[in-house]
Amino acid sequence: MKTQLENIYKNAAQDLEKASSISDIEEIRGKYLSRKGEFNEIKKGLKDLSDADKRIIGSLANEITRKLEDALKSKYDEFYKKELNEKLEKEKLDVTLPGKFTPVGHTHPITSTTNEIVSIFQTLGFSVVSDELSPEVETEYYNFDMLNVPKDHPARDVQDTFYTKLAKNVVLRSQTSGAQIHAMEGKNPPIRVISPGRVYRNENINARKNNFFHQIEGLYVDKGITFGDLKGVLNEFIRIYFGASRPTRFRSSFFPFTEPSAEVDVQCIMCEGKGCRTCSGTGWLEILGAGMVDPNVLRGVGIDPDVYSGFAFGMGIERLAMLKYAIDDIRLFFNDDVRFLEQF
Ligand code: DAH
Repeated sequence: MKTQLENIYKNAAQDLEKASSISDIEEIRGKYLSRKGEFNEIKKGLKDLSDADKRIIGSLANEITRKLEDALKSKYDEFYKKELNEKLEKEKLDVTLPGKFTPVGHTHPITSTTNEIVSIFQTLGFSVVSDELSPEVETEYYNFDMLNVPKDHPARDVQDTFYTKLAKNVVLRSQTSGAQIHAMEGKNPPIRVISPGRVYRNENINARKNNFFHQIEGLYVDKGITFGDLKGVLNEFIRIYFGASRPTRFRSSFFPFTEPSAEVDVQCIMCEGKGCRTCSGTGWLEILGAGMVDPNVLRGVGIDPDVYSGFAFGMGIERLAMLKYAIDDIRLFFNDDVRFLEQF
């Protein structure tokens, strides 16, 4: 039995010599030291020996087992370190390498100007109408009829308005004012809304005009709304948008859907009112149209003009952005030239 034990140890030592990885070591451990391993088989035979032999062989078996365990452990440690180093080497990261450059996009100046105007009106108590109430493809009914625009009004001419082939009376909206009608239909005042969006006009394109642009429409209907409220809200908007109180001027004007109507000018931001090229020497820049909602419009949507009154306004977003950022050509917004867009 003694030789048997010594032989097993010799074989194990040889196997260990050939081992080259942690998994080889696990295999050797299984072969010799596990419950079904070769040493255990020998230990099972101890019970048949005399007490004296049992002691001698038993302690020899224990000693050899311990020797083998130690040898396995030191080999294991050696391989563990080696394999770990190899792994670390392979997975080494150079944290000082520069990252991959990914250009980050940003909001288009029309979007950011729209957001800015919207948030100013939100602080003044207006909320934005939902998209369904502000469609870009409209019927003449919402774009003109309900806004009190006469059937023979020149704005309805195909020269000014894009008619679609969807149906005879379906147009690309020429103004956001139709959103007023959608916002009032079937609702009771108070109604205090704004509606930004794209509008289309059959224009010859030049530095000042494009065949589509953006507007923001505003509407406030309640009991006792006066022209004073209109002036107060718009002056406050202009003060916030252009910065510290800039003089404004309300000029009387005409729109079919408001009575009285006004065009609002702000003192020229280029020349502070002295007169320059931007303001054609007048010292003033027109920025929006507004007025008290015409009683016919209120009646059309079932709101009694003897009980309620309201004001409305509409402004061009490109125009407001051009004035604020001193941009002299509307086409820059739509040409996708990143040298221009990157400045915002
Ligand atoms: N829709 C007008 C335009 O496109 C702008 C406008 C003027 C809107 C007066 C209004 C308003 O709501 O009251 O020129």
